[in-house]
Amino acid sequence: MTDSPIAAAPEADSSLATARQADARDPLAHLRDRFELPDGTVYLDGNSLGPLPRAVLPAVTDLVRRQWGQDLITSWNVHDWWGLPRRLGDQLAGLIGAAPGQVVCGDSTSVQLFQAMVAACRLRPGRSMLLTDGASFPSDQYLADSVGRLLGLRVVRLHPSELAAYLGEHGTQVAAVSFSLVDYRTGELFDAAELTRTAQAAGAVMVWDLCHAAGVLPVTLDEIGADLAVGCTYKYLNGGPGSPAFIYIARRHQSQVELPLTGWNGAREPFGLNSSYVPAESIERARIGTPALLSMAALEAALTAFDGVGIDQLRAKSLALTQQVIEFADQRLARFGVEVVTPRRPGLRGSQVSLRMPAAYEVCQALIERGVIGDFRAPDLLRLGFPPMYLSFTEVHRGMLTLAEILADGSYREPRFAQRATVT
Ligand SMILES: Cc1ncc(COP(=O)(O)O)c(C=O)c1O
Repeated sequence: MTDSPIAAAPEADSSLATARQADARDPLAHLRDRFELPDGTVYLDGNSLGPLPRAVLPAVTDLVRRQWGQDLITSWNVHDWWGLPRRLGDQLAGLIGAAPGQVVCGDSTSVQLFQAMVAACRLRPGRSMLLTDGASFPSDQYLADSVGRLLGLRVVRLHPSELAAYLGEHGTQVAAVSFSLVDYRTGELFDAAELTRTAQAAGAVMVWDLCHAAGVLPVTLDEIGADLAVGCTYKYLNGGPGSPAFIYIARRHQSQVELPLTGWNGAREPFGLNSSYVPAESIERARIGTPALLSMAALEAALTAFDGVGIDQLRAKSLALTQQVIEFADQRLARFGVEVVTPRRPGLRGSQVSLRMPAAYEVCQALIERGVIGDFRAPDLLRLGFPPMYLSFTEVHRGMLTLAEILADGSYREPRFAQRATVT
């Protein structure tokens, strides 16, 4: 096949040469040493589950062996286990443009979304609508519907680009707007400042889901006057499978927000053991029940991978990586029916590139078998993530070449690649 995308010898490949030059100039290249990554694997799914930071195992071992094993329950005080959700919250705050005292860590994003949406709607009694994005992650939509049923609100789905027009007509009825900053499927990045301003100008409270933004691009919650935000820590923050989520409540709302899950950890006097709930005045009221200490210890250690790293540096490299992939796809994959669905304008994309193609599931499985890990999002997307902390331009190039190879040789058509696993 003369037009095979891999016909040229690697040494003659100008995009490989460019990738090597980019690696040679990369000021973040040393960060890869902070992670355990299997040799030979090109890991393009850190937007789903970040890899293992090297600092995690010793920290978790210490918590298990010494703190739990030896110091037992005294660790709640001796090792300040009690303060960990708040300490982690302050660390996370630094990565999402928030001053300390406005974030706590705990539970899952789904739980925190429920908390945030109910709290946001309760801040605007008398208004009858909750807006959400019909393309956002299922939890975001399912929970919006549940909150609607619970509070007797009408839930309206719209794309963020439709917000201003919608509020122009119905703004006085809208209690809250809940959007994801980055679309989990397409990778489109929305304008947090503009959308927050638009929602607030109509008197609504804005809730942001930062799952696909936190730790990989600049988020400036305080600067944009954000109200509430939530996010997970197992993607770009590398906290590990099922690591706890976080919630941000702007300081100005903290003494008024009425969170629905009134667990004892959020009470003003948790050890007063009173029979009725009086919430803590501070962000502590967003705590619920006993924190998952093992996961939190892992996350605390994982976040040290960010030590000394500027989010702007991460963003610059992330954009260069996604640009490299988009160019590769345009030049060498379009002939196989591959379409880039992620926005081409750098300011409009997060840190992933989603490629629409026939048989995306099968292609994804064939890629994994050849050591290039991405994921599939129904119905037809191969979703590839490009966390800048540990990926090199050269290995990304290798991953893309492998994709071109699989598309060219048709090996993804082997029936075993069509067998659906539980998790895609
Ligand atoms: C944008 C978004 N929101 C919410 C969730 C749900 O998170 P969790 O499973 O931690 O509740 C996810 C999970 O991937 C997500 O991508």
